[in-house]
Amino acid sequence: MRKPLIAPSILSADFARLGQEVEDVLKAGADIIHFDVMDNHYVPNLTFGPTICTALRNYGITADIDVHLMVSPVDSMIEAFAKAGASMISFHPEASQHVDRSIELIKQSGCKAGLVLNPATSLSVLDYVLEKLDYVLLMSVNPGFGGQAFIPQTIEKTAHLKAIIDELGLDTRIEIDGGINKDTIADVYNAGADMFVAGSAIFNQSDYKKAIQDLTNQLK
Ligand code: DX5
Ligand code: ZN
Repeated sequence: MRKPLIAPSILSADFARLGQEVEDVLKAGADIIHFDVMDNHYVPNLTFGPTICTALRNYGITADIDVHLMVSPVDSMIEAFAKAGASMISFHPEASQHVDRSIELIKQSGCKAGLVLNPATSLSVLDYVLEKLDYVLLMSVNPGFGGQAFIPQTIEKTAHLKAIIDELGLDTRIEIDGGINKDTIADVYNAGADMFVAGSAIFNQSDYKKAIQDLTNQLK
């Protein structure tokens, strides 16, 4: 059984002290860093670009950086973030005119490739590309903001996706993003997910170590 991964989302971090915040949350037990890129076009919010990723690498962060692109178009940002030090890059199929080409671009850049499915997006968008992906990110909120409530239909959707992955004999990771906390993480874990984004459930707490333990204690 692969180790489940906890990915704090820096969207909820204190940006005036971002380097320190990321260092602290990694010391507290985080596995990878989730990086939410929003362009106020594909989603109704605006966050940060590749320069912040470069700044974290220059600051000395060596952990994997999991870049979640909520932008349209996608391809130029894939190249920019790969250069900036991303380890993993995922995007929304609706935001790319050529999904297979965008996946290939991520893989050619040496990063792990992921596809992001919004709550209402069917698993059928994975047809003919699932084998090329290292992970699938299932949104358990509608993208654009932290601190939203978890959408329970994600549990069944995770189980369906896990069944497809197992039937094809793949080892694709399943990442869940949105509203993950100590009350919601166990159900999606038991449904087959093994990578968990958490923003407010970690960065809104004063004790990051306890916040992460509260999550991992549910993964039994
Ligand atoms: C929302 C982002 C999420 C968000 C998660 O569009 O993709 O990563 O930051 O934040 P919480 O865990 O607070 O729901
Ligand atoms: Zn995200």
